[in-house]
Amino acid sequence: MKNKYPATYAAAAADPSAFWLEAAKSIDWIKSPSKGVSLSNPPAAQWFEDGVCNTCFNAVDRHATGERGDQPALIYHSAMTGARVTYSYKDLLRHVASLAGAMKRAGAGKGDRVVIYMPMIPEAVFAMLACARIGAVHSVVFGGFAAAELAKRIDDAAPKLLLTASCGLEPSRIVEYKPLVDAALETASHTVDKVILFQRPELRAPLQSPRDIAWDAFLENASDAHCEPIAATDPLYILYTSGTTGAPKGVVRDNGGHMTALAWSMGAVYNIHAGDVFWAASDIGWVVGHSYIVYAPLLIGATTVLYEGKPVGTPDAGEFWRVINQYNVKTLFTAPTAFRAIKGQDPSGGWIERSDLRSLKALFLAGERADPDTVNWARDKLNIPVIDHWWQTELGWPALATCLGLGDQEARIGSAGKPVPGFRVDVVDEAGAGFNAEKTGEIVIRPPLAPGAFTSLWRNKSGYERNFDINQIYKTGDAGHIDENGFISVMSRTDDLINVAGHRLSTGMIEQIIADHPDVAECAVIGVKDDLKGQRPVGLYVLNAGVNRDEQAISEEIIAQVREEIGPVAAFKSAFSVSKLPKTRSGKVLRATLRKIANGEPYPMPPTIEDPGALD
Ligand code: COA
Ligand code: AMP
Repeated sequence: MKNKYPATYAAAAADPSAFWLEAAKSIDWIKSPSKGVSLSNPPAAQWFEDGVCNTCFNAVDRHATGERGDQPALIYHSAMTGARVTYSYKDLLRHVASLAGAMKRAGAGKGDRVVIYMPMIPEAVFAMLACARIGAVHSVVFGGFAAAELAKRIDDAAPKLLLTASCGLEPSRIVEYKPLVDAALETASHTVDKVILFQRPELRAPLQSPRDIAWDAFLENASDAHCEPIAATDPLYILYTSGTTGAPKGVVRDNGGHMTALAWSMGAVYNIHAGDVFWAASDIGWVVGHSYIVYAPLLIGATTVLYEGKPVGTPDAGEFWRVINQYNVKTLFTAPTAFRAIKGQDPSGGWIERSDLRSLKALFLAGERADPDTVNWARDKLNIPVIDHWWQTELGWPALATCLGLGDQEARIGSAGKPVPGFRVDVVDEAGAGFNAEKTGEIVIRPPLAPGAFTSLWRNKSGYERNFDINQIYKTGDAGHIDENGFISVMSRTDDLINVAGHRLSTGMIEQIIADHPDVAECAVIGVKDDLKGQRPVGLYVLNAGVNRDEQAISEEIIAQVREEIGPVAAFKSAFSVSKLPKTRSGKVLRATLRKIANGEPYPMPPTIEDPGALD
């Protein structure tokens, strides 16, 4: 196949509006847009302002009522319970339309927010699509967050309804959701109208308050809801992600731009078309899950796999391969950490050999840098293209990749690829000038951001303007370098965010909790290298003068408190008492230096350190 990447990239850069208006023709619009991009709500771009559409119609109805009605839309495979359920597009429509009807009956309508705090079960996907159907704005909260984090999101999004389940299933324990929901609602200042609870057989939760209602009762006698006409620029969802402050950042995604970009990306980036089976082994609580478990595959009439389980231990390192074999998965998308876990348990690839993987044509990795060892191992064992690609919650879909569907085959190990058409990515020095000399600089994206990228932040907009410079150039917060052929390697963050098992965490958020400990004077949290998870957070704290309690006990209290307030997802297991923290003259803790020391990397002795021995 001819490599159409260069010409496609050039066309999208030369006339973004014309390029994306053409791509938008793959969507069934209620009113087709005549306008491409505008800057009516700067600094982010708005797309297709005069278009009217419905995301659920495009993801479900048009396939269910067309020739794909009986084709599998969603395959639920639980490695935790053994459940295997296939939903055709017709089945999906039935479930989604009735849940949407029940939500409408309960008073949720266009623009109302609905929080979804659920495990990886089909009902969570129905809930997202049901919101899209009636124009309600969903906000999915990852199950690994604790009550306090859920409460923050409830207060920011101010939802009418909260949909949850009795439990999530982790290899080591059953996660009881209901007590977490109750605790979050107790601390949140916002009141929800109703909590709708899906009972799982593994653990049933009592309905305690008048606002609680069982899923089945909620659905009883509900009439199906139709698809509401929604402005292309109206919000489809809010997804909270870690910002550099303790407050979560509510990324707002629109309807029209999002559908257009995701549908286009399936063909151009992943080479996936209607009828193909695509598996994003992520979680619906993350952007990868929103885009590539739920919306993108369904928008184009492909089949998506919803996998509840882990890459290893549920029950073994062969489960991924059995899923691919069983459902004829064509493309797998996951995080490098999942592959490191598999490689760690099955270095010789014995489990891979036991499955027939002829359907598998490509592996895409994202969420953190795909380290060369992992990429080489995957290439060697699978013998297919292994593609690192880069994106962020804000961007919604990949901005750097090797666009397999455009016929580009050229991936460089260690690089996340070249800019995807629609994203003018550059690496710049401190003066904002682009350069090419393999020097590390900040990764920026020149305006307009492609459709599908965030259009705003919800409510708490602090930091929104700071994401862009005065020329509306988007500052990604990542640093890397670009080679002479245009391949960009994403190496680190320029801020205090760290990446743990493909999950983005703010060290500032953990520091706030440690600093609240009564015995702690000051602290710093840094991300240190971890062979499995890429990075893991480590806390260093200085005790208040006069405290002579057992340091081990204090560290344990701190670790427990972080788990209690943020949740197990923080993976915070190391805290140490130190006598001093290195600082600049203005009192800023030198976290970068600490990180280098912890990682065993060379570090320059900071000129402001009075006692170099303090760093040993
Ligand atoms: N609900 C509740 N708790 C959850 C959870 C959820 N949905 N997901 C994870 N947790 C818990 C885990 O049980 C674990 O708790 P523990 O401290 O009691 O053991 C903790 O959060 C950390 O979880 P995890 O990051 O999954 O680590 P792990 O050691 O259990 O597993 C991997 C390691 C590599 C197998 C796992 O991180 C993995 O599959 N990563 C893939 C990540 C991914 O898909 N990222 C999406 C970006 S594309
Ligand atoms: P999130 O918003 O949670 O998806 O996290 C986005 C961040 O993860 C990016 O800003 C990067 O720091 C990191 N990231 C994601 N994909 C990659 C990749 N392919 N290479 C390097 N870093 C990545």
